[in-house]
Amino acid sequence: MVRKARGGKGKKVAKKGILIEAEMPHQATMPKGSADEYVIKEGELEAKVSIEKVEGMGRVYRLEVPQWEKGTSAFMEDLKAELLRKVPITTQEALNIKMAQQLREKFLEYGRDIIRENMPHLNSRQIDLIARGIVHEMLGLGDIEFLLKDDWIEEICINGAQIPVWVYHRKHGWIPTDITISTENQVWNYASSIARGVGRQINTQSPLLDAYLPTGDRVNATLFPISYFGNTITIRKFARKPWTITDYIKLKTINSEVAALLWLAVQYETNIIVSGGTGSGKTSLLNVMAMFIPQNQRVVSIEQTREITLPEHLQWVPLVVREPTSEKTGEVGMLDLMVNSLRMRPDRIIVGEIRRADEAQVLFEAMHTGHSVNATLHAETVSETVRRLVNPPLDIAPVMMESLHLIISAYRDRRSNIRRVYEVGEIVPSDREGVKANIIYRWRPFRDELDASEPSVRLLESIKNYANMDDDDIKRNLKEKQEILDWMVQKDISSVEEVGKIISRYYDNPAAVLEMVRQ
Ligand SMILES: Nc1ncnc2c1ncn2[C@@H]1O[C@H](COP(=O)(O)OP(=O)(O)OP(=O)(O)O)[C@@H](O)[C@H]1O
Ligand SMILES: [Mg+2]
Repeated sequence: MVRKARGGKGKKVAKKGILIEAEMPHQATMPKGSADEYVIKEGELEAKVSIEKVEGMGRVYRLEVPQWEKGTSAFMEDLKAELLRKVPITTQEALNIKMAQQLREKFLEYGRDIIRENMPHLNSRQIDLIARGIVHEMLGLGDIEFLLKDDWIEEICINGAQIPVWVYHRKHGWIPTDITISTENQVWNYASSIARGVGRQINTQSPLLDAYLPTGDRVNATLFPISYFGNTITIRKFARKPWTITDYIKLKTINSEVAALLWLAVQYETNIIVSGGTGSGKTSLLNVMAMFIPQNQRVVSIEQTREITLPEHLQWVPLVVREPTSEKTGEVGMLDLMVNSLRMRPDRIIVGEIRRADEAQVLFEAMHTGHSVNATLHAETVSETVRRLVNPPLDIAPVMMESLHLIISAYRDRRSNIRRVYEVGEIVPSDREGVKANIIYRWRPFRDELDASEPSVRLLESIKNYANMDDDDIKRNLKEKQEILDWMVQKDISSVEEVGKIISRYYDNPAAVLEMVRQ
């Protein structure tokens, strides 16, 4: 688990050093402050980010990390060696990714003690600063740790040693940073330590790795010469604060009218697929919608890597696939988990992403046999989703397709990086093709609005049957939900817990919530 100390080489990339005694010059809380200049904090450790225009290069992401005085640097090298000798590490801690935080805390504690003994003139803030700097280097990914903490960043890419690390910035898109990793060996070390964290290896025999960090961030790594320019690490950051419907309405990803329809659809256990291109926000939207699930229901989620987060009022069993070991044993795949989940008496099954024909078959069997299923699928539009489903290799029969009520497609504009619900469609029978899509809402790019398109013919009909409601009931119900959503936006109620609370209170006592909203 413990990586060899890297001799502090990564530090040389910072342009202007900040002595630990010096105060950080600029304060900004993220992500509210300016998107061009802000401070990233980890405990007492701070780094300053500035996005600067550089002649001929466009924008560059500069990271100013704390610089240690010469004496401190030398002391830190000794301290690393001492920590490796002194800190007792249990096998559990070394092998179980869940223990990573505990291990860090342990190193921090020992580190602070040793620093206090050796440098009694430092105050506790300075001691913490040095201790965290060391833990960053020993157990973490060095300066990359700051990027992991930067909420403006969505993706982090190490493309090889000695070349800039690139990031995908929510405001500026792809930009190079002034961080470089000094050697290919160091990149490999990082990849290996990530692999060990999830009980795997990356080496010349198996040079590709899919894994995740203790923080939940997804990681892919490849080794030279498979990646010809050098060893790579790609990190897709996990949203630190999970998105909620309030965020989505605020960002205009969806409007409250369509959100109310999705709420109704989730409440009455319809089967839903969220589709979209890579990084369009499928998984996030699936998660946002899952918060509408009535309390006390039993939810089993099945994912490649753990991304979904549900509020506490649900009975939730998250299942995650296990990759095979390097000896090709021990694999537990999506299909295994889907088959298994059916034996767990779930009210709902949430499936991260369907990719293969056998997975799609099991998913539709589940829907067909009366389970409520929500999943994501890679396809750009609602019609393309239908086409992908009914044609080889997925080959879902039309009669099975009819168990699927709703398809929602997510869209990301690469240029402006905005994300929108692009279409909401339902599956209707068609003489010629077996089934086809009826688009209920469609996003209009020029006005940036989600417009009603065709009236729903099947979704509302099946909800009416299921819930024993008539047209007026449905209309009233949708209006109520829309009112509550608008109110949450207005009151800025946007955390998973708060939104979850309002929704579950509404299920308990709708009249009380409506009264509160209308006051
Ligand atoms: N409405 C939104 N506005 C802005 N950013 C968003 C929105 N929804 C999701 N994101 C961000 O977009 C990124 C990609 O989201 P997500 O992982 O949900 O997409 P995906 O389509 O499931 O990706 P993949 O194709 O890799 O499975 C994440 O960083 C997420 O936080
Ligand atoms: Mg996804």
